[in-house]
Amino acid sequence: MHKPAVTVTADLTLSEASRVLDDRKVGAAAVLDSDGRLIGMVSERDLLRSVGHGIDPTSTRVAEVMTREPVTVSASDPAATAVDIFRQRQFRHLPVLDNGQVAGILSIRHVVRVAHIEEVRPAGSAPPALAPRGLEGVAVAETAVGDVRGEEGFFHYRGYDAAELARRCSFEQVWHLLVEGELPDARQLSAFRERTVAGRHLAEGIDPILQQVARLPGYTPLGALRTAVSVTAAALDTRATLDIPPDEVRADCLRLASLVPVLLMRLHRHHHGQPPVHPDPDLGYAAAYLQMLTGERPQERSSRALEQYLILTMDHGFNSSTFTARVITSTGSDIGSALTGAIGALAGPLHGGAPSRALAMLDAIGSPERAEDYLREEIRSGQRLMGFGHRVYKTDDPRSTLLREVATELGGPQVEFARHVEATALRVLEELKPGRRLYTNVEFYAGVVMNSVGVPRDMFTPTFACSRTVGWTAAIAEQAANNRLIRPSALYVGPPAPRPVPQGYALAR
Ligand SMILES: CC(C)(COP(=O)(O)OP(=O)(O)OC[C@H]1O[C@@H](n2cnc3c(N)ncnc32)[C@H](O)[C@@H]1OP(=O)(O)O)[C@@H](O)C(=O)NCCC(=O)NCCS
Repeated sequence: MHKPAVTVTADLTLSEASRVLDDRKVGAAAVLDSDGRLIGMVSERDLLRSVGHGIDPTSTRVAEVMTREPVTVSASDPAATAVDIFRQRQFRHLPVLDNGQVAGILSIRHVVRVAHIEEVRPAGSAPPALAPRGLEGVAVAETAVGDVRGEEGFFHYRGYDAAELARRCSFEQVWHLLVEGELPDARQLSAFRERTVAGRHLAEGIDPILQQVARLPGYTPLGALRTAVSVTAAALDTRATLDIPPDEVRADCLRLASLVPVLLMRLHRHHHGQPPVHPDPDLGYAAAYLQMLTGERPQERSSRALEQYLILTMDHGFNSSTFTARVITSTGSDIGSALTGAIGALAGPLHGGAPSRALAMLDAIGSPERAEDYLREEIRSGQRLMGFGHRVYKTDDPRSTLLREVATELGGPQVEFARHVEATALRVLEELKPGRRLYTNVEFYAGVVMNSVGVPRDMFTPTFACSRTVGWTAAIAEQAANNRLIRPSALYVGPPAPRPVPQGYALAR
């Protein structure tokens, strides 16, 4: 408490009382009569309120605005008594009496410094419920973009079986479905294609920056892509989603999603000292992707195989990077920020980082006759087989089923070998990990397919980022169109608060 108490008399004007409070740097004073007895309290709030009501502070006396017969505490009361009074009566200052005399003034700030006060909640409200770790099984938004049904081994885009779309449609048709909400007819598709091809040209001044990024010592294709997307969004001046209409959000989304593979391939070629290749406007997304990579028009079966992989990986429920994109969009931020954050989330090995590891496992096995021993040894020593198991799918991953077919159509010794390793792994997993329901996941054949069509290993996850950009942009547009800030709570489990900062703990640098 403030000791001794700052006091005034009732006949002071409000201006004079205000000066006393200012000089003594306190928020309230005790009002005493001529015998030194407490008759009231006057606070900054009382003075301000009076002025707000048009009362003249130079002629009005403290007696007219003070709180008469104030509630008091005794110097011997525990701090908790004062806490209760502050809480129930909404006071900010209490006079403290000692033997009937005003010994000091206790402010709510004094108490907060020393007492452990339980958090104040609105009447009847419970502390926030703690969601399961990793938010598993918790629905945090409504979406019409798509869904994953793990037990059935099924996932869909806007209600259509995604594997069927990958079998029957082009990348652009499914892209249109995800971002515009419907499968396009011929006219819509042609207009959409035109927009995506037009969107491939680089923003002014970007290429020299890409060259520099591609030469950085810590270069990784995905890290470089993240940087390039961020810089490009700045160059295109993408505005806060909060400030632009839904049409403009979708236009920005399409422009950036069209550019992402162009940026990635430029970075790749600059990094390897090769001249960049302009995307051929006559080629669709997947074919242009390979053409920008190699400088040559790809074979139809290679671009179709890649296209099917890309369609299968456009979206996959409320995965971590999609959630990230939605959280950033929910703040009203721009699309460049949302995509940059999403790429950052995808970069984590627990999310986007496994396809090259599955291929590395095939390399480590080396030949079919070594498969069984290798796989047994891996599992016995507690290792995980790369490309097997999934958090959501407890049956065949529909993506792996189709990619197995795609890989088989591409043919070649690596595919035969992969099929042999897969069959052996499933048998060994069933024997050594019975009941765990471990199946081949998307990553196992993704690596095989990408390898077969000539995508280098360090470009596997970045290739995934390109197709997933479509899903991210669909989620961003959905969030922006019906936004509410995503701002959950956490359950605080640290030392009880407020903790007093140790006495004498001084400012230091
Ligand atoms: C994808 C993955 C992370 C999902 O893990 P999860 O749902 O958390 O599964 P859990 O960690 O609860 O594992 C359950 C059991 O299956 C086993 N298991 C899971 N995946 C396994 C794998 N790939 N190889 C061997 N055993 C595996 C675990 O060892 C565990 O066995 P236990 O009961 O004896 O401890 C996991 O399957 C994995 O690490 N796979 C390999 C990496 C990979 O392919 N990632 C790409 C995913 S698309």
